[in-house]
Amino acid sequence: MPLSVLLFLLSVWGSVAQDCGTLGPSASNPPTDCLNVDKYLVQMGFRSTNGCCCSARAVAVGTDSTKFTSNVIACEQKRVTDIDLTAGPTTPGTMPERFDLPELQYLQLRNLSLEGMVPDISANKKLRWFDLSNNKLTGFVNPDFSPNIGVSDFTVSSNPISAPFPPSLAALSFVVYLRIDKTNITGEFPNLSNQSNLRTLNISCSGVTGRLDGRLPPYADEISVNCNGESKVYYCNSTLLPTFGVSRAKIPVGSSAQCPVSNTTTSVGKQGAGSTLALKPTAFHTLRLVVVGLIVSLLAPF
Ligand SMILES: *[C@@H]1O[C@H](CO)[C@@H](O)[C@H](O)[C@H]1NC(C)=O
Ligand SMILES: *[C@@H]1O[C@H](CO)[C@@H](O)[C@H](O)[C@H]1NC(C)=O
Ligand SMILES: *[C@@H]1O[C@H](CO)[C@@H](O)[C@H](O)[C@H]1NC(C)=O
Ligand SMILES: *[C@@H]1O[C@H](CO)[C@@H](O)[C@H](O)[C@H]1NC(C)=O
Ligand SMILES: *[C@@H]1O[C@H](CO)[C@@H](O)[C@H](O)[C@H]1NC(C)=O
Ligand SMILES: *[C@@H]1O[C@H](CO)[C@@H](O)[C@H](O)[C@H]1NC(C)=O
Ligand SMILES: *[C@@H]1O[C@H](CO)[C@@H](O)[C@H](O)[C@H]1NC(C)=O
Repeated sequence: MPLSVLLFLLSVWGSVAQDCGTLGPSASNPPTDCLNVDKYLVQMGFRSTNGCCCSARAVAVGTDSTKFTSNVIACEQKRVTDIDLTAGPTTPGTMPERFDLPELQYLQLRNLSLEGMVPDISANKKLRWFDLSNNKLTGFVNPDFSPNIGVSDFTVSSNPISAPFPPSLAALSFVVYLRIDKTNITGEFPNLSNQSNLRTLNISCSGVTGRLDGRLPPYADEISVNCNGESKVYYCNSTLLPTFGVSRAKIPVGSSAQCPVSNTTTSVGKQGAGSTLALKPTAFHTLRLVVVGLIVSLLAPF
């Protein structure tokens, strides 16, 4: 939902259903969600709304009233649906480990210098928008994101997260934006070829490595892999790259060691270890490539 629409709805709704806020410092019958939200706000270094989180907007501690629209909490029927905080608190805070808000759809906590971990969102089954970029998060409380089937934006950019790429992320079929740039998320580039909704993928300056062909999302229009002109990922066979998005990604072609000539003739590929063998050149493989290269260069002038 665009912010303007959100603010409009908030202002209309706020004037109709206000139950605290303008009336006094504490609500007589605060919704459970707001008691939880107040706990989270205080933990993150913001001011409590005193049970009134659904009455208006959460105003950041230390930010002046001209900035209050940056920090928005939205509710439906006293259930919190959106938390959108991007104007930092003045006191240092930590990320809650989980958000006990069953109707939460939109969680944006950006640029807040929050310490801690990417929270466990397995209970937030309605979550669609998840953006925690530019904090100080170091890992995942729970790397299983398979319950978050409706998530369309998963963004954890610019956090010192040291963890393997969560396999469940590669299987979230409604993801449109997947951004893990500027993190220490590591591992082989996952197979995203089933991700037909994925449009924006950013793995720049992350720890993700390896071969991309046969694994890229087929319809992405923005793929970023380079970090200061260097890339830890590469392709071997350009015919296996999708036609969208890739041209701007400047994906380098792998070296001959990274892209060994596959041995299609026999049994090696059929034994379990075959696929790993094929990716890691053995001394024999390298020698063979050198020999082939020599022969090719000897023949070339003729
Ligand atoms: C993040 O916060 C810093 C300091 O509060 C501010 O200077 C910067 O513009 C913010 N960046 C974004 C993307 O909001
Ligand atoms: C990743 O880890 C390395 C080594 O621990 C560290 O120097 C670097 O700053 C980290 N990068 C990020 C984005 O956290
Ligand atoms: C991808 O991430 C890098 C590093 O954070 C950033 O510089 C770049 O602008 C991002 N790409 C896009 C398309 O947003
Ligand atoms: C892609 O989807 C098909 C059909 O649902 C499934 O069999 C296959 O394992 C999926 N591949 C990956 C890499 O997720
Ligand atoms: C990725 O998954 C698709 C669908 O399951 C499969 O056809 C393709 O071969 C896989 N790519 C690689 C490189 O394993
Ligand atoms: C590249 O992939 C295509 C399609 O799978 C295949 O026909 C071709 O032989 C591959 N080329 C090389 C050099 O592996
Ligand atoms: C393929 O592997 C088999 C078994 O290791 C080996 O005998 C054969 O020479 C290999 N072929 C090529 C072209 O490397």
